[in-house]
Amino acid sequence: MRVIAVANQKGGVGKTTTAVNLAGALAENGFKVLLVDCDPQANATTSVYSRDEILNSITDVVCTRIENKQRLPFLPVQNALYETALPGLDLLPSTIGLSRFDMQPSLSIDRLTNAILEAGKNYDFVILDTPPHLGQIFTGAIKAATHILIPVSASYLALEGVGDLLDTLGELPTWGSLNILGVCVTLYDTRTNASKDAHAAIAKHPVLGPKLFQTVISINTRLNEAPSHHVPIQRMPIEGASVTRAIQQFEELANEVITRLDVNRQIRKIK
Ligand SMILES: Nc1ncnc2c1ncn2[C@@H]1O[C@H](COP(=O)(O)OP(=O)(O)OP(=O)(O)O)[C@@H](O)[C@H]1O
Ligand SMILES: [Mg+2]
Repeated sequence: MRVIAVANQKGGVGKTTTAVNLAGALAENGFKVLLVDCDPQANATTSVYSRDEILNSITDVVCTRIENKQRLPFLPVQNALYETALPGLDLLPSTIGLSRFDMQPSLSIDRLTNAILEAGKNYDFVILDTPPHLGQIFTGAIKAATHILIPVSASYLALEGVGDLLDTLGELPTWGSLNILGVCVTLYDTRTNASKDAHAAIAKHPVLGPKLFQTVISINTRLNEAPSHHVPIQRMPIEGASVTRAIQQFEELANEVITRLDVNRQIRKIK
């Protein structure tokens, strides 16, 4: 089991889009993949599942539950796993209520870490979508991770935030055992110098440069639309060059991930 946390404390850099569609691409390669939504915004959840159909979530597994003034037991994590429309890709969803986790005693951090590890034990890959702020959720998720994948949007301001992220990660007790799997440039716009400059600056960065993935994820309206269909881009119910290009870029990213982790490629399932 490889647990990859998709993390960057800067908001809106493409964490969720990367987590969802990389998870989809790995599942398309025949791997068993669990997407864990560790963000109370629940954007990864709605990106692969209709929210109305979700009864149980990671919130019930890790947050104290009170009903009629009675404290309910924590839900077993296996009761909060959902199959998605893409065979091989399952979801451990989140809800807005997960924000309470950041207010609970810090002892609970291990409950989140253990829930992720327990949920993921039968999967080849666990992909964690993390929130854009630091707190107990972020720490609990990172503690479960074997690797971190950092999406950086192709803009000057996003690049500035990366130094802060590296400082934060350096303060975590598990930092020494956590590998940066790679840095992926997202929201890349070939028409702008700003995108090219940001990419060049990341390539030159002393820590991030050597970790940069060759694949860049371009700005693509289809990636913005896919969540409204509750499917990863690989199951987008619309065809066309933009969809094909987005699928191809995430396939290339998945290939780089597989190569860097040196995992045996499974025989692609015929779907
Ligand atoms: N390559 C892309 N092309 C077009 N739109 C994109 C692309 N990547 C992300 N977006 C859109 O940009 C917005 C932010 O992306 P996303 O939600 O993935 O970022 P995030 O880092 O997870 O944000 P947050 O920090 O709030 O969790 C979303 O509306 C998403 O659909
Ligand atoms: Mg997000």
